[in-house]
Amino acid sequence: MNILAPSILAADFKNLGKQLSEIAENGAEYVHIDVMDGLFVPSISFGMPVIKSIRPASDKVFDVHLMIEEPIRYIKEFKESGADIITIHYEACKDVRATLQAIKDAGLKTGLSIKPKTDVTVVKEFLPLCDMNLLMSVEPGFGGQKFIDGSLERAAQLKAIIDESGLPVDLEIDGGITLDNVSDVLAAGVNVIVAGSAVFKEPAGNTEKFMKILNSRP
Ligand code: DX5
Ligand code: ZN
Repeated sequence: MNILAPSILAADFKNLGKQLSEIAENGAEYVHIDVMDGLFVPSISFGMPVIKSIRPASDKVFDVHLMIEEPIRYIKEFKESGADIITIHYEACKDVRATLQAIKDAGLKTGLSIKPKTDVTVVKEFLPLCDMNLLMSVEPGFGGQKFIDGSLERAAQLKAIIDESGLPVDLEIDGGITLDNVSDVLAAGVNVIVAGSAVFKEPAGNTEKFMKILNSRP
């Protein structure tokens, strides 16, 4: 099954509750939540209190993407705020294995993300600890950027690595996804689609349009 994960970084924060209801009504199963610390990435977004306050407004899966240094420090706090999946960055952890294990031990699903210039093969040894891999198709830090050329090939390579392992690991992509490139991304083997600007900054109805494309493929 293909899943849409709208990124609330692009949402209208004064209407967040309403926007969460709209995306859920139109078929989005995940809510993608981008946490930035101003160190791992240049920008600062939001953290635990915001997640906690929107948790009652949605019964969908909270897919929390931590763009922070040493996320192992905050696993407990993000769990208590309402995260269902915690995705960490390979490049942000001294001990990737221990960080994934801490997420698992907290009873949450694990995601491992790599930036556009990181070799896709680095994830291989961690796959037994992963529920999901997240391939960044823009440099993390800001919404509204352009999909980086070469990301489709990287997605296909990562999908092949996952398939080779025989493990049930989802493949998510994040950055610059639009109604025009989402079919190619699905064809490359991605099954969890993050979209920020293309969902929240476009005229109403885009969630539905994304879902039509996602549901038309296996
Ligand atoms: C970028 C974030 C993305 C971003 C996606 O660092 O991880 O989730 O919000 O936004 P769009 O879809 O606008 O590229
Ligand atoms: Zn993200």
